[in-house]
Amino acid sequence: MEVREAILKRRSIRKFNPEPIDKEIITKILEAGHWAPSEGNLQPWFFYVVENIELRKALAKAALNQEFIIQAPVAIVVCADLEKTAPYGKRGKELFCLQSTAAAIQNMLLFAYSLGIGSCWVGAFNEAEAQLIMNLPANLRPLAIIPLGYPAETGRARRTNLNDKIKWMQE
Ligand SMILES: Cc1cc2nc3c(=O)[nH]c(=O)nc-3n(C[C@H](O)[C@H](O)[C@H](O)COP(=O)(O)O)c2cc1C
Repeated sequence: MEVREAILKRRSIRKFNPEPIDKEIITKILEAGHWAPSEGNLQPWFFYVVENIELRKALAKAALNQEFIIQAPVAIVVCADLEKTAPYGKRGKELFCLQSTAAAIQNMLLFAYSLGIGSCWVGAFNEAEAQLIMNLPANLRPLAIIPLGYPAETGRARRTNLNDKIKWMQE
């Protein structure tokens, strides 16, 4: 699939078939995340692959009861490693590692789509609760929960007019 097609056609999916996803495919999606650009190539991300149903139930609860986290057969908890980015000081910790990990998330959403797998970037969750559920070390900040599964809906989100978001500065 062309990159442009994946970018234009990917939509958030919130209804999934229960069919599991092969470990090999999940690994390829994580690999797409791992090839994101990062500050000084520090690769400040860490991925938890959550298949365990009890953990997914707890994550859904921490995410304001977003039940589709339970419906999808797997959820990736994507964390930014705040220690990795120490060479870049405050800006590294407060900005770069979040930007890089966000790039990894987007890579995964797009690549998953190209394989026919639906996903949704879930950012609305209680961070402290997620830390506890996942038993995360203090250096790992959970940025997103990404449920992955074969889609049982087609997303339909639209975009506003691109021209309203652009200012060309030629002179
Ligand atoms: C930082 C961030 C946080 C988000 N959090 C949630 C969320 O908690 N729950 C949800 O259903 N969608 C969430 N989304 C998905 C957006 O709702 C979705 O991307 C947007 O409506 C555009 O739709 P599309 O992804 O289908 O193009 C989040 C997206 C981003 C980038």
